[in-house]
Amino acid sequence: MLENLSKCNYYACMIYRQILHSQPAPMGYGGCQGEIYGEKGTGKTILLAKLASDLALRGIPVVWRFRPKRDHLPYILSLLPEDHDVPINFWVYETDEPHFFEQDGLSLKRVEIEYKNYSRPSELVNRKIKKGLNVVLAPSTSNEDYEPSEKFIDEVMTLNPAIEVDELYKVRSGVFWFEFAWSLVHRKNRKFIAFMFDEMSEWCPANQAGALYHLNGILAMWINDFRGTNIHFFFTAHDSRDIDWRVYASRIEFSFYFRGARVRDKHRVKQENVDMLKNLQYWVAHGYYFGFGVVFPPKTNKILFAFADEKGEIPF
Ligand SMILES: Nc1ncnc2c1ncn2[C@@H]1O[C@H](COP(=O)(O)OP(=O)(O)OP(=O)(O)O)[C@@H](O)[C@H]1O
Ligand SMILES: [Mg+2]
Repeated sequence: MLENLSKCNYYACMIYRQILHSQPAPMGYGGCQGEIYGEKGTGKTILLAKLASDLALRGIPVVWRFRPKRDHLPYILSLLPEDHDVPINFWVYETDEPHFFEQDGLSLKRVEIEYKNYSRPSELVNRKIKKGLNVVLAPSTSNEDYEPSEKFIDEVMTLNPAIEVDELYKVRSGVFWFEFAWSLVHRKNRKFIAFMFDEMSEWCPANQAGALYHLNGILAMWINDFRGTNIHFFFTAHDSRDIDWRVYASRIEFSFYFRGARVRDKHRVKQENVDMLKNLQYWVAHGYYFGFGVVFPPKTNKILFAFADEKGEIPF
């Protein structure tokens, strides 16, 4: 971020630095939660990648949710300095065997990526995820093996008895990221960890029904605990209205607006300022402060894809 100083408003830099240099709760600020909004192609993923690379360079384990359909992971890799010592690990569910493809401009070619296996979100969070960049692929939708853990089911049933247990078993891998968030809050240490989720509307859409609707409400509650448990959490969406309002209205304290974003109620950034932005420019607000910032384009045009097998894709 320091290299951006000349192009950034002082307060935008200050907010960004607060995220990078946050001290453990309860003495310090703890985990930071941020939302990034803007229309297509304005720079949301680049900013998420910038945050991911800066946090990883500071020695914080960063979880990057791999978006099988079109992941911009190469953005992060291109932001890391050539001589970086950030370990990069891909985590794949134990019975999935994904194939990876790389899009570079107009070409699409198969690439080999080494990955390691996991069996449960709690295993990932407590034992497998270490400092560096941890790219996590959720179990594929076609995989019948994955089942949410009983402890997780017991807790969500206690929190909301309206949830139908059978439904949780039916949606299977759709529950994965909820169980992941639950595992984060219940992890066995309080070291900083960062969780980055590009395209949040794929996880918690505004129009969810049934058990997944109730899980969104429970997730909002866990997100409330992220700050005190030193969990950084950042996500992107085109518009907050695409996401279940309980999730973003919970305690998302850092808001980044790119062009085309709708400023949320009571925020200090003015809508007309957001409407004047160009690509890769943003306004950021945190509590009393707000400021204007810029992200630089990545040095790569590459995009990664993953497919589970001939039968199906890995879900969100
Ligand atoms: N290698 C590159 N060189 C220059 N500009 C780039 C490069 N890669 C991306 N960009 C710019 O970044 C913009 C896309 O940024 P980004 O992927 O962060 O957008 P986004 O807001 O996440 O879009 P979407 O809503 O489609 O996910 C593009 O419009 C393009 O102008
Ligand atoms: Mg994007």
